[in-house]
Amino acid sequence: MSSKKHLLAKKILFSNRDIEEGTRKLASVINQDYSNLKEDVVLVGVLKGAIPFFSLLLKYIDFECIIDFCKVESFNGQAKATGKPILKTDIESDISGKHVIVIEDIVDAGYTLEFLISHFKDLGAKTIKTAALLNKLETRKVNIDPDYHVFDVESHFLIGFGLDYKEKLRNLDYIAICDVDKLKIWDK
Ligand code: IMP
Ligand code: MG
Repeated sequence: MSSKKHLLAKKILFSNRDIEEGTRKLASVINQDYSNLKEDVVLVGVLKGAIPFFSLLLKYIDFECIIDFCKVESFNGQAKATGKPILKTDIESDISGKHVIVIEDIVDAGYTLEFLISHFKDLGAKTIKTAALLNKLETRKVNIDPDYHVFDVESHFLIGFGLDYKEKLRNLDYIAICDVDKLKIWDK
């Protein structure tokens, strides 16, 4: 771990192997739940953090599905949620009468999911479920839990596998607790 890319990783919580295994198991549960539906299923990835989890999950999804993306800004790469998500880019698909699964990197306060569920309801989705790689247990501000998630985590600031610090470190292939004592050195 000599590259600066790894400098902020204080403790690796989930290795790439853990993430692969956990995501594969989650996909098999989702596969069972969605196997016999008449209507189309749309998987919506929330940019940018969900990209690695989205593509890994997609690999193991075995029913026919449409994929789409939206971009929501709420966190600004800082260690504090703003509470007011802003929809930067909407999905392209017509989701009216379809089943939507929102794919998120992490549910923290829950504002982003709350906002997206209400938005996709307005667009006429038949059902909306949510899947997150990580579920922060202690920081929820609204009464929303992901329908599916891979790992529960405590309220540390995390980096890697899609999670950024100042828009970087999304390309770590593991999830780690961010070493806040090293932020100053790293920022230079
Ligand atoms: P929520 O709206 O508070 O649930 O925030 C969700 C968004 O905040 C996630 O999609 C992430 O982009 C970001 N986020 C929450 N916790 C972390 C973290 O520990 N590291 C990096 N980004 C995070
Ligand atoms: Mg996000």
